[in-house]
Amino acid sequence: MNAPVMQGLELNVPDYVKNARLIAWVADMAALCKPARIEWSDGSEAEYNRLCDLMVQAGTLKKLNPAKRPNSYLAWSDPSDVARVEDRTFICSEKQEDAGPTNNWMAPAEMRATLNPLFDGCMRGRTMYVIPFSMGPLGSHIAHIGVELSDSPYVVVNMKHMTRMGRAVYDVLGVDGEFVPCVHTVGAPLADGQADVAWPCNPTTKYIVHYPETREIWSYGSGYGGNALLGKKCLALRIASTMGRDQGWLAEHMLILGVTSPEGKKYHVAAAFPSACGKTNFAMLIPPAAFKGWSVTTIGDDIAWIKPHADGKLYAINPEAGYFGVAPGTNTLTNPNCMNSLDKDVIFTNVALTDDGDVWWEGMGDAPAHAIDWQGKDWTPALAKETGAKAAHPNARFTVSAINNPALDTAWDDPAGVPIDAFIFGGRRSNTVPLATEARTWMEGVYMAATMGSETTAAAFGAQGVVRRDPFAMLPFCGYHMSDYFQHWLDMEHKLEATGHTLPKIFCVNWFRKGEDGKFVWPGYGENMRVLKWMIDRLEGKVQGEDHAFGISPAYDEINWEGLDFSRAQFESVTDMNPEHWKAELGMHAELFEKLAHHLPQALNGTLSQLEQRFAA
Ligand code: OXD
Ligand code: MN
Repeated sequence: MNAPVMQGLELNVPDYVKNARLIAWVADMAALCKPARIEWSDGSEAEYNRLCDLMVQAGTLKKLNPAKRPNSYLAWSDPSDVARVEDRTFICSEKQEDAGPTNNWMAPAEMRATLNPLFDGCMRGRTMYVIPFSMGPLGSHIAHIGVELSDSPYVVVNMKHMTRMGRAVYDVLGVDGEFVPCVHTVGAPLADGQADVAWPCNPTTKYIVHYPETREIWSYGSGYGGNALLGKKCLALRIASTMGRDQGWLAEHMLILGVTSPEGKKYHVAAAFPSACGKTNFAMLIPPAAFKGWSVTTIGDDIAWIKPHADGKLYAINPEAGYFGVAPGTNTLTNPNCMNSLDKDVIFTNVALTDDGDVWWEGMGDAPAHAIDWQGKDWTPALAKETGAKAAHPNARFTVSAINNPALDTAWDDPAGVPIDAFIFGGRRSNTVPLATEARTWMEGVYMAATMGSETTAAAFGAQGVVRRDPFAMLPFCGYHMSDYFQHWLDMEHKLEATGHTLPKIFCVNWFRKGEDGKFVWPGYGENMRVLKWMIDRLEGKVQGEDHAFGISPAYDEINWEGLDFSRAQFESVTDMNPEHWKAELGMHAELFEKLAHHLPQALNGTLSQLEQRFAA
């Protein structure tokens, strides 16, 4: 298969690549995209270093001072290309009703007719990289393989941190193994002799497209994060959620952590929070001194793939192999494990460059007297005070391999996954939702998750402080009708019950209640261990909690307060259930259910009616 695909363009298939469908697809895509050359990524250190050097020469990356940040780089993106583009993200199922009212939809044929001319010649003057990756431990029965074609070397080096990427994937893929084809272009072809820019992208045209029936991903015009690293949100959530629906498993926007008691008893918790609600912080939590002998270890910080097992338990893997986390706000107090992970071998994007060749972002600690901001301009604290100029973009990111994390769980790469004991769902709410509530039943837990809301942050979605319903933290990531997804979760109860096993408990949390002064009341971060420990006490039947209309919440005296000055009055202000707020809240649940009415499981409406009655009583 080494015949040229076009005049002068060789496929150059390495002899270890034997999958006929893959080779044919690469040939087809090369004929369409018309790159200048094709490179098959092997995932080696040598390749990583060569591509980083190439991008340093091209101005895409800056090498950071090796004495401060060994083997680390900084990229600044085009100001038009700084975040996921939800309004340009499409689920192209055959029937619109299968995408549901929460996704943008276009008929596959129409989308293909739109994309084909855009992809025709889109890689001119560039290299097409063939990037094989496994989402999940190589060969795990829960894992899946993807192959991304991309004209961005930045994507190749990021995928090396974020996935199990490289040559070993071909051994698993074999001659006829299945893979999800993912094609990505920055959408900026180069004419003969045209000079490139540091961050090529298409400033006006972007499409992030999923075909759930044929399990394909096509991404055009952006080089940033989830728009371009297609293993993450596109494959591991949007496409995988449809695979999970069809095959009886769950693809979730959840961190996974292990929590071990001084006696060595270990629990595993999977927790869903919308973007920018501190998932990485929770996944890397360091327990306060009062919790001597307890440890929290990270299996994943963003995505979980969860499968029922013959022993009646749900087993979870982290399909990713690295962290693409938000830098601003991260510091040695909020997340020491994360800061330690960032000591070396990191790719930073859109943070500021200090005069000594290191990085800085808002919330990292003392500001430097001078820095170059993410747009390449001079920045000083005085300027920030005067104009509000940010040194780092609020959605600035770090990309780092999981193996840099000092709190990495020993089972993080275990192909069998870890058994889940509890699910936690949480949004950012300045009022209404209490600090912690346990669902009395699976049904109540699914209801809590389905009706989750979160206040938007400027970083992620423009307007600040508006409550956006984000069911299961999956609103931008569910690849099919959200109501069918609820039903899939409800069905899981009966599947697991049939095995006679105890279901994981479901909890709902809110770290973000504010006082009358507008400040957060709950200290959060490591102190969240106090709530986690209460949940474990509930799993072990050691505490009763207090029953209320929405579920079961901790009594003040059931939480270990040693080393934290948190009064009963403060506790009351993060746990009280204001009837007016709840009336409005249930009204918003009803609005959501109306929007999703077409396929909505009746049991959810039934639960809403019960809640209305309980609150009215
Ligand atoms: C993320 C997100 O980047 O959820 O993880 O936006
Ligand atoms: Mn996420």
